[in-house]
Amino acid sequence: MKKATLILDKDFSIGEVDPRLYGSFIEHLGRAVYGGIYEPGHPTADENGFRRDVMAKVRELGVPIVRYPGGNFVSGFNWEDSVGPRGSRPRRLDLAWMTTETNEVGLHEFVSWAKQANTEVMYAVNLGTRGPDAARNVVEYANHPSGSYWSDLRIRNGAKDPFGIKLWCLGNEMDGPWQMGQKTAYEYGRVANEAAKMMKWVDPSIELVACGSCAHDMPTYGAWEMEVLDQCYSNVDYVSLHRYYGNPTGDTPGFLARSMDLDDFIREVVAICDAVRGKKHAKKRLNLSFDEWNVWYHSNEQDREIQKADKWGRALPLLEDVYNFEDALLVGAILITFLKNADRVKVACLAQLVNVIAPIMTRTGGGVWAQTIFYPMMHASKWGRGEALRPVISSPVYDCRDYERVPLVDAAATLSPDGSLTIFAVNRDLQDAIPLECDLRAFGSLRVAEHIVLHHDDVKAVNTEADPMNVAPAQGPGAEADAGRVTVRLPALSWNVIRLK
Ligand code: AHR
Repeated sequence: MKKATLILDKDFSIGEVDPRLYGSFIEHLGRAVYGGIYEPGHPTADENGFRRDVMAKVRELGVPIVRYPGGNFVSGFNWEDSVGPRGSRPRRLDLAWMTTETNEVGLHEFVSWAKQANTEVMYAVNLGTRGPDAARNVVEYANHPSGSYWSDLRIRNGAKDPFGIKLWCLGNEMDGPWQMGQKTAYEYGRVANEAAKMMKWVDPSIELVACGSCAHDMPTYGAWEMEVLDQCYSNVDYVSLHRYYGNPTGDTPGFLARSMDLDDFIREVVAICDAVRGKKHAKKRLNLSFDEWNVWYHSNEQDREIQKADKWGRALPLLEDVYNFEDALLVGAILITFLKNADRVKVACLAQLVNVIAPIMTRTGGGVWAQTIFYPMMHASKWGRGEALRPVISSPVYDCRDYERVPLVDAAATLSPDGSLTIFAVNRDLQDAIPLECDLRAFGSLRVAEHIVLHHDDVKAVNTEADPMNVAPAQGPGAEADAGRVTVRLPALSWNVIRLK
């Protein structure tokens, strides 16, 4: 009979989990803003036009930070278009998504939405069509108290207090040929360094993310990070990673193994950061901002049709992936991977938050519902806090097209300051439930407070507005505890949260 074992000890610490590991992303793209978080006239809209039903779901998800306003969009964006009287804001062609941006929602509106949503803003500056001057100006506008041109303009525009945005992205995916103002690594590294210097001169308390490669499989990956960091290491704090997965061939075992790629990606970028640190004899250690990750492939074909039919349309239903149960399992496996690398991955943004490749879906004029991927994300954000513990796992393995010896069971654990322990585990086995024997003797006496399971017999099962709880968490079979040893039955193909007190 198959079984897996897990040993945990409170002294085997990976490090403190940065709450920003459970961040997300809102881009001016598709129906993320217009028809997503913002829909004046909707029955639940507040006085600012924000949907209260969407706000409630965002709060339920527990998102400590939201990256904004793009994405590819930011590389052609003039931040000045998004402030001042709404009636005078320009309508612009967005060359990233071939749509029209009205700027009806801009910086002030988004900051006030974020405050209500209990989240912070991670703001991206345009280093595609613009540069260090626009970047330092927007920092002055957002964060300088008063007494300068841009800070006084913010005050005249209605915000007496600075926005206090702490985390800033130095452009977006600048290595990608689809990006407006794509650059070579040297060009980007130089411009990022100059922008970073000037932005920090305006506000030395901010933290900055330099663009790493936009994917693990870019031809320039690796060399890009080396060169960029060589140029800007001393002025930046994080390097970004982006990664999306898909399962177009219906190979579930191969798809669920994709978190192995993510783990390799993280370890390689950590190694590059540390190599540049060594080369520069630097004291500072760079950490990682995995500021775009998710499953993204379901909507690709549909998007081509939509863009063909309505070029320059507004708030088109783009990137509206409908997530199924196996997508939720991969999202769970990815969250486990982040927790196991919590010493170096400090920020991660599930891309995105509402409607656009998102855990939360809306119908314009209608309801809001949680997609399958909402649940592992919510569980991890709620209980994956405190200290990440190094799990010693032994599991049966399988081989698939891209990976050998993929563990059927993967797990991570966090210890809260109140002494409660949470184990997150995924069982990738298509057929069999696998008992997970946990050796928790180092914790003294613990009881299983709750075992939550996400499972569906059909890997392609989805949630819809009409059937929003088709794939939803349920209480699991629980666990036997005996003298510090706990055995939990992980159903075949399942995401599990085991909470011990
Ligand atoms: O999240 C969707 C898009 O994916 C973003 O705009 C871009 O940065 C990435 O390629």
